[in-house]
Amino acid sequence: MKRLVSGIKPTGEFTLGNYIGAIKQFVEMQKDYESFVFVADLHALTVYNDPEVLRTRIRELIGIYLACGLDPKHTTLFVQSENLFHANLSWVLECNSYVGELSRMTQFKDKSKNKGNESISCGLFTYPALMAADILMYDADVVPVGVDQKQHVELARNIAERFNNRYGKTFKVPDPMIPEAGAKIYDLQNPTKKMSKTDESGKGCIMLLEDPSVARKKIMSAVTDSESKVYYDKENKPGISNLLVIYSLLEHISIEEATQKFGESNYGSFKTAVADSVEKFLVELQAKYNEIVESGLIDEVLDASNKKVRKIAEEKVLDVFKKVGVGRY
Ligand code: AMP
Ligand code: TRP
Repeated sequence: MKRLVSGIKPTGEFTLGNYIGAIKQFVEMQKDYESFVFVADLHALTVYNDPEVLRTRIRELIGIYLACGLDPKHTTLFVQSENLFHANLSWVLECNSYVGELSRMTQFKDKSKNKGNESISCGLFTYPALMAADILMYDADVVPVGVDQKQHVELARNIAERFNNRYGKTFKVPDPMIPEAGAKIYDLQNPTKKMSKTDESGKGCIMLLEDPSVARKKIMSAVTDSESKVYYDKENKPGISNLLVIYSLLEHISIEEATQKFGESNYGSFKTAVADSVEKFLVELQAKYNEIVESGLIDEVLDASNKKVRKIAEEKVLDVFKKVGVGRY
């Protein structure tokens, strides 16, 4: 069975965008791939995070993964920092990456823009090498990520090829897997901008653990256009198109089917249907989440997977250490 590896950073509240753009793909793919899905908590340290908040978010994300349908029978769920070998491999890969290529990462350029060198952490710069370690550690075949992460997966491929050429075949060269365009969810108030937890007003973004009735109001007040026909046209009707995407993905129907259903409806009744769908999704998700949190399943799952991932990682790191010539391996 081919292997899938992916992770999400535990920073900020988790959003409907995280579900539709990432977690939903992991859930759909877990039956066909041996999956390793983790909480990328070491990546969260590239900027300052309050330690108590970070601790809470890590557990929250594991709970969300489980509540969304990741099944420990198919998916090994773990917390990156609990497998100490990630940081070891990351160092060796950093030493096999170049300042030039890391400087070309657009995410680094965006995040460091308008900041002086004295306020950007070195971790923010070298973070793609840690991401390469996360991926190459498990010999991933596919890495499902949002489009913003594609460049980092390509870097992991380059590092793998370079290392294999220098030291002999050690790593599998992974492929990125980008969900189809429809899977990008936009801000409800500003539907040309990605729905993101950094949204300042909070009105444009649906949080997975927020009060479902608040989420309902956000959908009802989503920005639309002045025409009153419901159809998909991303350029001219970004607000309505975004709601159609959300509705069709949550109801497991195609955009065409959703359009047929609402084509003649006014915006009010269309929005009510989307709001019902989002509200129902959140109510069910949160009921499962609360049950999981109370059951102790989170620690049970993590304790079991820790042994498994450490074993795989230890073998890989010892092989790498031996190949590069450090220690007495
Ligand atoms: P982030 O929360 O930006 O760290 O992203 C974690 C994962 O969720 C990545 O795979 C993103 O591509 C995905 N993601 C985040 N926001 C959205 C969105 N609005 N639409 C689709 N995917 C998203
Ligand atoms: N960098 C990814 C993000 O910000 C998270 C991540 C870390 C990741 N390591 C990974 C994703 C390995 C896929 C594979 O969203």
